[in-house]
Amino acid sequence: MTWPTALTVTVVLLSQLLLNALGAALSESSSEQAPDERRVLPQAIVIGVRKCGTRALLEFLGMHPQIKIAPDEVHFFDKDDRYERGLEWYRQQMPMSSPGQLTMEKSPAYFISPTAPGRIQSMNHTVKLLVILRNPITRVISDYTQTFTKKRSRNESCVPIEDLVIDSFSGEVNLRYKPIDISIYHQHWARWMMKFPRHQIHIVDGDRMIVDPLSELIQVERFLGVKPFLTTDNFMFNATRHFYCMRKPGRATEHCLGFSKGRTHPQLKPTVHQKLKDFFRLHNNLFYQLSGREFHWDAT
Ligand SMILES: *[C@@H]1O[C@H](CO)[C@@H](O)[C@H](O)[C@H]1NC(C)=O
Ligand SMILES: *[C@@H]1O[C@H](CO)[C@@H](O)[C@H](O)[C@H]1NC(C)=O
Ligand SMILES: *[C@@H]1O[C@H](CO)[C@@H](O)[C@H](O)[C@H]1NC(C)=O
Repeated sequence: MTWPTALTVTVVLLSQLLLNALGAALSESSSEQAPDERRVLPQAIVIGVRKCGTRALLEFLGMHPQIKIAPDEVHFFDKDDRYERGLEWYRQQMPMSSPGQLTMEKSPAYFISPTAPGRIQSMNHTVKLLVILRNPITRVISDYTQTFTKKRSRNESCVPIEDLVIDSFSGEVNLRYKPIDISIYHQHWARWMMKFPRHQIHIVDGDRMIVDPLSELIQVERFLGVKPFLTTDNFMFNATRHFYCMRKPGRATEHCLGFSKGRTHPQLKPTVHQKLKDFFRLHNNLFYQLSGREFHWDAT
């Protein structure tokens, strides 16, 4: 070995030692991290639907010790620029978890994305999917209310909901209004059915989750194959907010979702409400047939 080579080898070895020491120091400093924790791709994904309670569903599930949830909506499968960053980037967005724990994320736009079903299938064709749905008309109103509240806070002018859901020219329901399109569940559902077997998608009743979250979450625990854990102790009805708040294991105080949740909705004019009911009846029935799950959305 010539001496410049020997020197290089020594320098390389030394820097390796230094790096190892540095690595050890760094991992010791994050003392909360269990030794076997790492980030893995999600084994279950909440794919939607917007304004149906996806955040509440994920946060409630996050109380389960076997479930780790991603803090933010990742929008990996619906946004091309994110998808192009690759699966490794996606994995990095996931929370730390131990073997035996389940990793989950939610991005409500997946449900309506034409590309998401195929992309998710090619990541993991046995991944478990969850979709939470509300009465389609309630969902439209909630969607409108969110935009309305945002606009009003910026002092922008707001169009009444009636002028958006009804096409002023034809007098019919306005299919170009996006909140209407999103609520036609069967058209989006059909895309998922082309890529996944029915048993791989669990439907959560978002209207029931508001009044009785535990009954819905017990079904989700069963679907995910985690041990039964959540009980009535984990949910506290908050009369001010008309919402259930969470009581996390080992904590005395409750934790409520942000104030944007549970806004009061405007009342629709009865004629417009009737028009929407007539419009959605057919679409809802198609969804019941395709999904094998019947809801009573047309009764109210
Ligand atoms: C795919 O999803 C299934 C169901 O959650 C899970 O058991 C399996 O480990 C996942 N595969 C990979 C490679 O993550
Ligand atoms: C909106 O208007 C109110 C009253 O005119 C004003 O006090 C407030 O600062 C405005 N807000 C914004 C975000 O412009
Ligand atoms: C309900 O929520 C409000 C707002 O988050 C909070 O101030 C109040 O203490 C809660 N009420 C109960 C009974 O926990």
